[in-house]
Amino acid sequence: MSRCRNLLSSFAILATALFFVAPVGIVAQSSEATCLSTFGWMNNSKGQSPCLVAAYLISVCNVAPFVVQSLPPTFHYNGPYATGQSQCGCSSVTYNAFSACAICQNATETNWSLWSFNCSTVYPGSYPPGVPSGTAVPQWMFQDVTVYMNHIDHLLAMC
Ligand SMILES: *[C@@H]1O[C@H](CO)[C@@H](O)[C@H](O)[C@H]1NC(C)=O
Ligand SMILES: *[C@@H]1O[C@H](CO)[C@@H](O)[C@H](O)[C@H]1NC(C)=O
Ligand SMILES: *[C@@H]1O[C@H](CO)[C@@H](O)[C@H](O)[C@H]1NC(C)=O
Ligand SMILES: *[C@@H]1O[C@H](CO)[C@@H](O)[C@H](O)[C@H]1NC(C)=O
Repeated sequence: MSRCRNLLSSFAILATALFFVAPVGIVAQSSEATCLSTFGWMNNSKGQSPCLVAAYLISVCNVAPFVVQSLPPTFHYNGPYATGQSQCGCSSVTYNAFSACAICQNATETNWSLWSFNCSTVYPGSYPPGVPSGTAVPQWMFQDVTVYMNHIDHLLAMC
């Protein structure tokens, strides 16, 4: 897994929060976010970016498919609202996917503690609904981020 070793150069620490995971009416799960080519290693076995994987993972628990919007620098994806918590949003696998999606855009990620703040039940290292057909989840996304100081850069540094 040496392919992800050199990626974690430096991440901006300061983030401006905005909820960029927006429900949409009719399109299938998709992503408008584009990863920098240096983060191609984050793609899954189907050649899908972590942003598209994130869209799949969050869509399972919602009636409406989700589009993962692109993220300006210094912005990050927020975790679920109290009213929006689900086995999808409160899974660290989903957190890892959104964090990777932020990182690959050269944006900023939040930590698991903040992401899961509104979750009354959390699913560290697991994704209870089961990986949806149409996508695949890379093994590193299943790593339990709570044993990596709740932060994906500590997780990815182990790659
Ligand atoms: C990663 O996925 C994106 C989006 O599907 C694609 O444009 C890119 O070429 C892929 N890169 C690699 C190295 O697979
Ligand atoms: C928790 O959810 C509330 C709305 O229910 C939201 O205003 C708040 O920003 C959320 N907190 C975090 C840390 O995501
Ligand atoms: C990534 O973001 C930093 C600061 O936000 C910027 O200085 C740098 O040029 C960006 N890199 C790319 C490849 O966009
Ligand atoms: C998560 O981020 C918040 C805001 O930056 C910070 O206050 C908190 O200490 C962090 N928690 C962990 C476990 O890193």
